[in-house]
Amino acid sequence: MIMICRTKQQLREALENKRKQKPGLTTGFVPTMGYLHEGHASLIRRSVAECDLTVLSIFVNPLQFGPNEDFDRYPRDEQRDLALAEASGADIAFLPTVEEMYPTKPLTSITVDVVTDRLCGASRPGHFDGVGVVVSKLFNLVQPQRAYFGMKDAQQVAVIRRMTDDLDMPIKIVPCDIVREPDGLALSSRNVYLSAEERSQALVLSQSLAKAKSIGETAGKTVQGLIDEVSNHIRESQLADIDYVELLAYPNLTPLAPNQLLLETPGELLLAVAVKFGRTRLIDNRILSFSEVTIDV
Ligand code: PAF
Repeated sequence: MIMICRTKQQLREALENKRKQKPGLTTGFVPTMGYLHEGHASLIRRSVAECDLTVLSIFVNPLQFGPNEDFDRYPRDEQRDLALAEASGADIAFLPTVEEMYPTKPLTSITVDVVTDRLCGASRPGHFDGVGVVVSKLFNLVQPQRAYFGMKDAQQVAVIRRMTDDLDMPIKIVPCDIVREPDGLALSSRNVYLSAEERSQALVLSQSLAKAKSIGETAGKTVQGLIDEVSNHIRESQLADIDYVELLAYPNLTPLAPNQLLLETPGELLLAVAVKFGRTRLIDNRILSFSEVTIDV
């Protein structure tokens, strides 16, 4: 049976008991905002496979939503979430209220510079500061050895890795593969907002990312050339309203020169897109590398 903790005190006691029963046990942590899907389940299962104890948190964190974003209408379904968490093997679920997490407005901020300059860091001001505060608080409460994050939020993974490194938090950040619907759409709690027409047009994201590798392997293709082709492909969907299409060095998320030739760009690159369909903003990405490719002459 999954154990449900709603207060920090309950969570601390539950963890203390488990750790007393089995000294030295390893704790894996899966922080979420709920409305769980198969992507979350895959994080839980990975933690269960790698750790003695798996803690899941479900908390829609107001600090990481902008004033015109979807905090109020963010989907919530506690009973379904708990059933899925239990079926995936989680041992403890922590479901605090906003008042429990933030009895007073935090005066402490966590800002990870540089990695947040682009992508969602640029288009959602303050978002990653809110993520930094809540993830730090959750890490302090759960004290896991390992924490599992989905690569759909590749920038979030980079931010949290940098935060844990900079602040000497003894936690291994484990990035996990994006989980997709059979037709390619990346799983997201926000997919539920999409109308049938938006849902079908949103396939353009995974389709354009899938094409990017072969486009980039074309001789003479530059960074900007790839961004333009991917953007044009996305624009073929009438309902798509592009927020960004960016290609950055991975994992540092530093910009590349627009005229840089892809076949001469070493290492891994992150091609990331954020696109609105109606009121729903979706993100997706793919890690690419081009430099090992040999050109037949
Ligand atoms: O990825 C999310 O769901 C959230 O940003 C997180 C990490 C749970 C923090 O609120």
